[in-house]
Amino acid sequence: MKILWNNKIVDESEVKIDTEDRGYQFGDGIYEVIRIYDGLLYMEEEHLERFWRCAEKIRLTLPFTKEEFSQRLHQFAEEVGIKNGRLYFQVTHGTSKPRFHAFPEPQKVMPVLTADIQETSRPLEKLSKGIKGGFVPDKRWLHCDIKSISLLGNILALNEAQENGYDDAILVRDGFVTEASSSNLWMVKDGVIYTHPDGELILPGITKIKVRELAKDLGIELVEEPFTKERLADADECFKTSSVAEVMPIISIDGKNIGDGTPGTITKQLQAAYIEAIEKSVKKM
Ligand code: PDD
Repeated sequence: MKILWNNKIVDESEVKIDTEDRGYQFGDGIYEVIRIYDGLLYMEEEHLERFWRCAEKIRLTLPFTKEEFSQRLHQFAEEVGIKNGRLYFQVTHGTSKPRFHAFPEPQKVMPVLTADIQETSRPLEKLSKGIKGGFVPDKRWLHCDIKSISLLGNILALNEAQENGYDDAILVRDGFVTEASSSNLWMVKDGVIYTHPDGELILPGITKIKVRELAKDLGIELVEEPFTKERLADADECFKTSSVAEVMPIISIDGKNIGDGTPGTITKQLQAAYIEAIEKSVKKM
């Protein structure tokens, strides 16, 4: 597999990461996941904007401009040649020796960037049948808006849900539903879509930006306000969104059907509109 490692495109066997890299030791870094459809880095600009915003939040100065990085990613994607996949990249604060907790002074360390592209197909069966969710307490930190590589909170939640026989965790903080373990979460009640507002309790999803636009185009009311797990259990439809999961129906929670236990009408409308939007962007390329 080829890896983009700082400025170079190399074979994975050539990558050397210091054992004192702050990403490795502290989880001190951020990441992005972009879907590639037919060679198109879907919603690249929005992903890069979030990456830069997150870098700022962890006081990390990226050693290139957005334009330079975009060019580098395109060159990398071209060289790898995978037309349908997912691009993962992360940057850490680099190596500071000896190990110390405080952020290093920017001039003393070089951030370390790695990226890879893996072939990915759309999760078609799950998209058509839906998946099962289970409520799990949201015990993550209070900077969930930072796309941090420290994902233990999310992983523990997913693991707990899967141990209980569910596909994904639906996170609940103080009685209110925040998001799923690696996706944003939505419900539909009486024709209105609800989702948690952006802020420090959730990751502001790029797919969420698109779904906002699509709901508007379809004339469906969207309310961004916190809702309780009881309201969700009583919803007509539920779905989650992410660059990888797209618009994924959730048909039951804790073993109880949502609506009639099949993907809902508005969920299916949004799924279709999402694919149409991708196809339009690919044609424009
Ligand atoms: N996860 N919320 C969380 C906690 C996430 O990890 C993600 C993305 C999202 C949706 O973000 P977006 O629409 O920008 O993909 C929401 C990625 C896909 C991952 O960790 O693999």
